[in-house]
Amino acid sequence: MTFEYRNKQLHAEDCAIRDLVAAHGTPLYVYSHATIAANWQRFADHWPAPHKLCYAVKANSNLAILNLLASLGAGFDIVSGGELARVLAAGGKAEDVVFSGVGKSRAEMVYALEQNIRCFNVESAAELERLNDVALELGVRAPVSLRVNPDVDAQTHPYIATGLKANKFGIAMKDARGVAERAANLPGIVLCGLDCHIGSQILKVSPFLDAADRMLALIRELREQGIEIDHLDMGGGIGIPYQQEDAADVSGYLQALRKRAEAVGGLTLLLEPGRAIVGNAGVLVTEVEYYKPGVDKNFLLVDAGMNDLIRPALYQAYHAIQPVKQSAEDANLVDVVGPVCETGDFFGHARHLAAQEGDLLAIMNAGAYGFTMSSNYNTRPRAAEIMVAGSDVHVIRQREQLEDLWKGEQLMEKLR
Ligand code: LLP
Repeated sequence: MTFEYRNKQLHAEDCAIRDLVAAHGTPLYVYSHATIAANWQRFADHWPAPHKLCYAVKANSNLAILNLLASLGAGFDIVSGGELARVLAAGGKAEDVVFSGVGKSRAEMVYALEQNIRCFNVESAAELERLNDVALELGVRAPVSLRVNPDVDAQTHPYIATGLKANKFGIAMKDARGVAERAANLPGIVLCGLDCHIGSQILKVSPFLDAADRMLALIRELREQGIEIDHLDMGGGIGIPYQQEDAADVSGYLQALRKRAEAVGGLTLLLEPGRAIVGNAGVLVTEVEYYKPGVDKNFLLVDAGMNDLIRPALYQAYHAIQPVKQSAEDANLVDVVGPVCETGDFFGHARHLAAQEGDLLAIMNAGAYGFTMSSNYNTRPRAAEIMVAGSDVHVIRQREQLEDLWKGEQLMEKLR
């Protein structure tokens, strides 16, 4: 365990969170270097070359985290030109980058082609045509994987399920053969793979293997038609326990996948894990501003808000909330809420906590889709981010200053 109590004080590796707050304030994201590295290793152990792991940058795109993962041999799954620029700024290699996303612009295509990325994960026939045009204009050929929607139910929250035919993502199974044929014949395209991504926060292995079976059957069919496919990218989606669920069987999944692919033969496998690498490696630390007894409920008002961590508000996501200092006092039943002017601004309902004004709380498992989904709503500067490695502390993002928030804005010229 990375975040554990020593002498009743919650620590991140060898650092007391209380001390980190004394130096850096709240709200504060704190990440553990050792946890990220261990999570990575859990995948890498079962994924020998030429298979490749492409970390999903959207889960946490801080440069220091991308740099750490690049040093561990990660490739990257990006969904925008901005994420590509981040990866390059962090020392990642373009040749290890796959580019997902339903709405790639021409400018993003040009940029990614110029950088020589490994592959575009193309999500529609229209995108394929556009990419072909852009590549021909540049006098190059674009390496392409087709994202196919395998129509499996990932049994996760509807907002983060992506592999059903009702979703906007990917090319429908029934259209995949036609689009693959087209891709194989376009002069600006080199068709090299197929990919899918069925959703996020999936704890069972079976939906992944169902999807893999469908994708492998399609690869067989395409090969029979003379369309060669060299790689299969199964996307991300492996979940983490947020409230004592059984952890996903990562090694079982990866081994089963390799076995199935070996039976087909001649395939390099790619995965795009995000949450499983960084989710449990970060906490959001916040200070209690007020204890507010209410009519039906009591509230702990804290100084972090939905602008810092939007997952509870957006997905009714559960995050454990722990006191930074363990106390023997009686716990109250409280809703933990932020200062933002929205009823949805909460971190937890009906929690048992003994905290008082001035106490610190840690919102657990906040390493994935925490900071990257944060905003400046209510003109709130975004939190600082700290990376802890043993007893070393690195500020990997400074707290935003108010002036940063209106940079680029200007007053209107005087109206006539
Ligand atoms: N690959 C593709 C094409 C994706 O769309 C995603 C995530 C991933 C990989 C990484 O998935 P992961 O391994 O992290 O599950 N904001 C939501 C999650 C949205 C996921 C979107 N796509 C949340 O906070 O739960």
